[in-house]
Amino acid sequence: MSKIIQATKEHLPSILQINEIIDYKNPEEFMLESILAWRISVCIVEEQVAWYSLYQNIWGNTPLLALVKILPKYQWRGFGTQLVKNLEEIIKDKWYTKYLSSTEVTNTLSQKFHQKLEFTKIGILDMPHGKEMFYIKEL
Ligand SMILES: CC(C)(COP(=O)(O)OP(=O)(O)OC[C@H]1O[C@@H](n2cnc3c(N)ncnc32)[C@H](O)[C@@H]1OP(=O)(O)O)[C@@H](O)C(=O)NCCC(=O)NCCS
Repeated sequence: MSKIIQATKEHLPSILQINEIIDYKNPEEFMLESILAWRISVCIVEEQVAWYSLYQNIWGNTPLLALVKILPKYQWRGFGTQLVKNLEEIIKDKWYTKYLSSTEVTNTLSQKFHQKLEFTKIGILDMPHGKEMFYIKEL
């Protein structure tokens, strides 16, 4: 059984813990600000936060799937697909017809994931942390 809900302040410790486990550390202030703006969804499995997703709205008109983090023990079990479907419902409810996503070029598994979920590659940018592949998806 899994339950997807909007994150509240009570989920902040679990979200920070996932950040500790999965690569770079996103600042706590940013995570809290995103929770307060209702931009984070969490999935509860076995009374634990199994994943979270965070979207931003760049220029106020273009949704971006900014962060996707699934705890290692829940990876490759269909939760990422569930997460994307959930985000797409949120985006469609706000009347958007397309959104962006991105991943580091070195993250080949995430690239496979984006391809499987029918994102279209739109280009690579040289970011401060390295090369980032951007994608678009029409809803
Ligand atoms: C990348 C990530 C989001 C994928 O989510 P997931 O729940 O593990 O993926 P799913 O189980 O929904 O699988 C979706 C597709 O990914 C691909 N995939 C799944 N397992 C895979 C594996 N072991 N190796 C390669 N591709 C795999 C498949 O194409 C799969 O579709 P299929 O099962 O129908 O063939 C997740 O593993 C994760 O959070 N990783 C760590 C953080 C990260 O890399 N985030 C993304 C940065 S943008």
